[in-house]
Amino acid sequence: MRFSSLFSSLTAVLAASTAAVLAQSPLPTPKFEALFAGQFTISSSPNTTGPFGTRVHFVISGGTLADATTGKTVATILPFADDGIVSDSGLFFPDSFLPITWSVDGHLASIKVTGIGNLNNGSMSYAHVETDSPTYSWMNSNFFITKLSATNPTQPTFTIYGVANATTKY
Ligand SMILES: *[C@@H]1O[C@H](CO)[C@@H](O)[C@H](O)[C@H]1NC(C)=O
Ligand SMILES: *[C@@H]1O[C@H](CO)[C@@H](O)[C@H](O)[C@H]1NC(C)=O
Ligand SMILES: *[C@@H]1O[C@H](CO)[C@@H](O)[C@H](O)[C@H]1NC(C)=O
Repeated sequence: MRFSSLFSSLTAVLAASTAAVLAQSPLPTPKFEALFAGQFTISSSPNTTGPFGTRVHFVISGGTLADATTGKTVATILPFADDGIVSDSGLFFPDSFLPITWSVDGHLASIKVTGIGNLNNGSMSYAHVETDSPTYSWMNSNFFITKLSATNPTQPTFTIYGVANATTKY
């Protein structure tokens, strides 16, 4: 009895919230712009097999990051690893922290990258940036995505995009 009355009140709440959601018009679609373009080199990958598929441990020896507009190098990518999962269905879920050194002031940043794709053509990810660089402190409070191309499997290229127009970042 108590269960069925709880269930019917839950049903009522769900029906009400569904109606409320349907009544909303969509927010403006976010627009992104290319901010940085980079590349790195994968030197090896020991793998472990588990319940979700294959967990890769791509050892990345480092790379560079450039301004997407000028092409000028703005940071060095330090060695890191991607410890993502290749599922049995072939999907790849990248999972890594990229440490970088900004050329302008020598401060470091850490870019956490998690997303979805496959090993043949690449992936798209959410990127979260943490830095103590005064020049790039604006990145700490903003939303970024990355697109990675794996056309060259040992030297992937990627672009970091930010939400276009400073006043509408999130
Ligand atoms: C680990 O898996 C990746 C992705 O499938 C593959 O490129 C790499 O050769 C594998 N490493 C080893 C040591 O088998
Ligand atoms: C990307 O890779 C998948 C899996 O190998 C393949 O089926 C698909 O055709 C590829 N897409 C492009 C655009 O190359
Ligand atoms: C950014 O704002 C400017 C000025 O309002 C506008 O012209 C431009 O189209 C906007 N860019 C995007 C990607 O929305």
